[in-house]
Amino acid sequence: MSKLWSGRFQKETNKLVEELTASITFDQKLADEDIEGSLAHVQMLGECGIIPAEDAEKIAEGLKVIQKKIAQGEVNYLVAHEDIHMNIEKMLTDEIGPVAGKLHTGRSRNDQVATDMHLYMRRKTEGLIELVEAAQEALLTQAEANVDTILPGYTHLQRAQPISFAHHLLAYFWMLERDKGRLQDSLKRINLLPLGAGALAGTTFPINRQRVAELLDFDGVYPNSLDAVSDRDFIAEFLSIASIMMVHLSRLSEELILWSSQEFQFVELDDSFCTGSSMMPQKKNPDVPELIRGKTGRVFGNLIGLLTVLKGLPLAYNKDLQEDKEGMFDSVETLEGALMLLAPMLETMTVNTKAMQEAVTKDYSNATDLADYLVNKGMPFREAHEVIGQLVHYGIKHGKFLLDLDLNEFQSFSELFDDAVYTVLKPENVVAARNSEGGTGFDQVKKQLQLARNAGTVLAFHSKQ
Ligand code: ARG
Repeated sequence: MSKLWSGRFQKETNKLVEELTASITFDQKLADEDIEGSLAHVQMLGECGIIPAEDAEKIAEGLKVIQKKIAQGEVNYLVAHEDIHMNIEKMLTDEIGPVAGKLHTGRSRNDQVATDMHLYMRRKTEGLIELVEAAQEALLTQAEANVDTILPGYTHLQRAQPISFAHHLLAYFWMLERDKGRLQDSLKRINLLPLGAGALAGTTFPINRQRVAELLDFDGVYPNSLDAVSDRDFIAEFLSIASIMMVHLSRLSEELILWSSQEFQFVELDDSFCTGSSMMPQKKNPDVPELIRGKTGRVFGNLIGLLTVLKGLPLAYNKDLQEDKEGMFDSVETLEGALMLLAPMLETMTVNTKAMQEAVTKDYSNATDLADYLVNKGMPFREAHEVIGQLVHYGIKHGKFLLDLDLNEFQSFSELFDDAVYTVLKPENVVAARNSEGGTGFDQVKKQLQLARNAGTVLAFHSKQ
């Protein structure tokens, strides 16, 4: 089968080489973008008089026919045609004849593929922003319903201080807020047009790059043709954003897995989001958060893979760059899948407020408040810390939590204690007392919820600009 570049060759390509060099098995995902870019390019060629207007029209019509066929799954991609660009050009030739050969005037696959990737990343980034917002909405909804729900907050996975469950959920809201901000910011660098750079040095034809940028809704064009065809920063940047976001989703997943264990029983994931065991009839497994946690590895791998591809490349295009695609597709799809599942999983999750409440009454997570209590009575904090440490030790020895001790026992450690300790030590009061800005006190959490709601609107406003 004759190749689009066969003129200079005297021999057929070795079959294994054909297989090694082909990218059509994966870059067919860029079909829509490839046609979109070609439509803008050919319109510009016609407008600038580089090819006759009627040829430009014929090519555009042919491209639209192919677009439809692709949408209806009627095309047959061939490895012999190497990649999506040459497969489509071949189809175009079959559709409209030799005039199809004018489409590639003033263009190279190097600026073409870069353009396709920019269009793809723009579409996917915009979609991912919406998916992040949906996950944030699910976190907000659960948070709003659980301001008064108290659970132990942990450090070192040891019970530390009681907190509002809403506060815990909102921590993830803010992580996702930063992820969303990073995605939005990256659009500035994605939304730049490489097309018109040619193979590496520009072209002899009087093309109008600004016009193509306008047609494709780009903010501008790459100012340097070498950079335009060899830049993959926008993909590396996406992969880093994706990796950071997967860290967040993985941490949340880890907590959901812990919380839904028999040991915690803080939440129950809906049946429709869990799976069973083929052997043990009683099992209900949190496969979804486990897979989100597990898939984090491949997203990290894709980042390292691309950075490694890029690090030793001389300018400009090198075939190594074809290795930029599979990791990008994989990370986009992994992230989409994780976010799409996260929102409904959080929305349908049952919060076991009783188990959470029970956990905070059966521990010493109110000990800091007892130390603060002595400080308020004039004792230096270090001294108070020591006294309460001894009190906790006493409690552990006698199988009593702080609220189980009687006033005599308290007073044997310090005369400063009076009846008020019982109020101070109640978990609700412990939480409420942390009324410092950004703290878990109920009033602060309510303020934070409002901030979170407004953060959404502020960003939605910015993204419309
Ligand atoms: N399939 C190629 C890629 O993805 C397209 C660019 C090919 N350019 C070339 N000079 N061989 O990178």
